[in-house]
Amino acid sequence: MNMQLVNTVQSTLKNTEHPYMQGAWRPTYNEWNAIYANGDAQVIGTIPDDIDGVYIRTGEVPVHEPIGRYHPFDGDGLIHSMSFKGGRASYRNRFVRTKGFQAEAEAGRALWAGLLEPPHKSTRPGWGAQEWLKDSSSTDVVVHAGKILSSFYQCGEGYRLDPFTLEQFGTEGWVPLDGISAHTKIDEATGELLFFNYSKHAPYMHYGVVGPDNKLKHYVPVPLPGPRLPHDMAFTKNYAIVNDMPLYWNPELLERNLHVVQFHPDQKTRFGLIPRMGGPEDIRWFEAEPTYTLHWLNAWEEGDEVILDGYFQEEPQPKSHPDAPDGLERMMAYLSQGLMKPKLHRWRFILKTGQTTEERLDERVLEFGMFNLKYAGKPYRYAYSAVPEPYWFLFTGLVKHDLVNGTSEEISFGPGRFGSETPFAPRINAKDEDDGYLVSFIADVEADRSECVLIDAKRFSEGPVCRIILPERFCSGTHSVWANGNDIGMGPNTVLGA
Ligand SMILES: [Fe+2]
Repeated sequence: MNMQLVNTVQSTLKNTEHPYMQGAWRPTYNEWNAIYANGDAQVIGTIPDDIDGVYIRTGEVPVHEPIGRYHPFDGDGLIHSMSFKGGRASYRNRFVRTKGFQAEAEAGRALWAGLLEPPHKSTRPGWGAQEWLKDSSSTDVVVHAGKILSSFYQCGEGYRLDPFTLEQFGTEGWVPLDGISAHTKIDEATGELLFFNYSKHAPYMHYGVVGPDNKLKHYVPVPLPGPRLPHDMAFTKNYAIVNDMPLYWNPELLERNLHVVQFHPDQKTRFGLIPRMGGPEDIRWFEAEPTYTLHWLNAWEEGDEVILDGYFQEEPQPKSHPDAPDGLERMMAYLSQGLMKPKLHRWRFILKTGQTTEERLDERVLEFGMFNLKYAGKPYRYAYSAVPEPYWFLFTGLVKHDLVNGTSEEISFGPGRFGSETPFAPRINAKDEDDGYLVSFIADVEADRSECVLIDAKRFSEGPVCRIILPERFCSGTHSVWANGNDIGMGPNTVLGA
């Protein structure tokens, strides 16, 4: 292994008593480059030579002592990448140099309060639907037009980085005034990126399409009855699917600038089907049982039906966390999948009648599903869901579903080992949908180290075929993506570590 400490970001964090500054969420500030080859002491098993591309995972790290109470989604964006080619692997990590990150570095302290504090505690105007948060571009990553686009869940400007080197290119130029939400979507069939945003002012949501040339080609309002908190969208070949769910800020309190999330069980969930290049007049709304869904899996069309898979929360407004410190009960409850109980669920929108039918696919608590992105927007067979630790924002294992046969397999990452969202990396010249690897970062709290693990998706129950020990133990995070080498300019002559 060839390892180089590139930089250490200056932190002013003093008090690390917070539950999300410890254990698998312990922050780190070093930025590294490392190269691995088979035979290295840090490689357990064999780095496969039949994948070519990059695993990218983002997450949140508190760089400065927070103003008031800290929510782990307030942290600065830290992106990790692990590139694979020719049986070698290359690791890098970099903080996203957002405008907020740079302003706080200059000030030497936090300038923005987080999600749990009233907006007036921020010392500068900010971002997000809430309008006073720091856009830390920390929630989600996709690769589009050859570059990473990182995004912030409450909407932000979107930052571009090189997927391999993590070189930074600043904010993305086509992003509209209301920003982009997390969970932009890539249609590999067309090279298009689909996105939405949401805000506290009418029409409360927009939807847009960016071409493979990275030019904005469509941007339309999606009028909603009021401010909403959508987190994800889905798409099929012909439709984008947006949502209006009955979990949103209490409207009376919002008039006093208080942001208190509330579930309205008497209101239906609404799904908006928009033809990909359609306008507000083309949106067809379908009603379904009230719930909240953080993440969708895939969607596709079958004859006269549009089908959507995702995770239906049985308790969108969770009861207080049993073990949380004073003042953090609500926050920790909303990070506990075991309290919200999301379950794999299928919605069918019948285009002829305007009706919706629903079906539970699994009774286990699961979330953060991934699948082979070549099948995005199309019928698919295999889904890979994360098994959450019940009372923490952590993942203890994975479930592979065969959605055609209705079967599943489950693996655990092991005691004290917490995984990341785990995307699918297709094998070079893959023949089947599950011909490839699942890639994840593990924070092993007991061994005090982080690993990148690869699981052969066809031999899922055997667990990792390769484990690569990273330069240090890194903080858990949120979303991830796999980018194929061909799509990011890792040509046939690229040699990692040369
Ligand atoms: Fe998300």
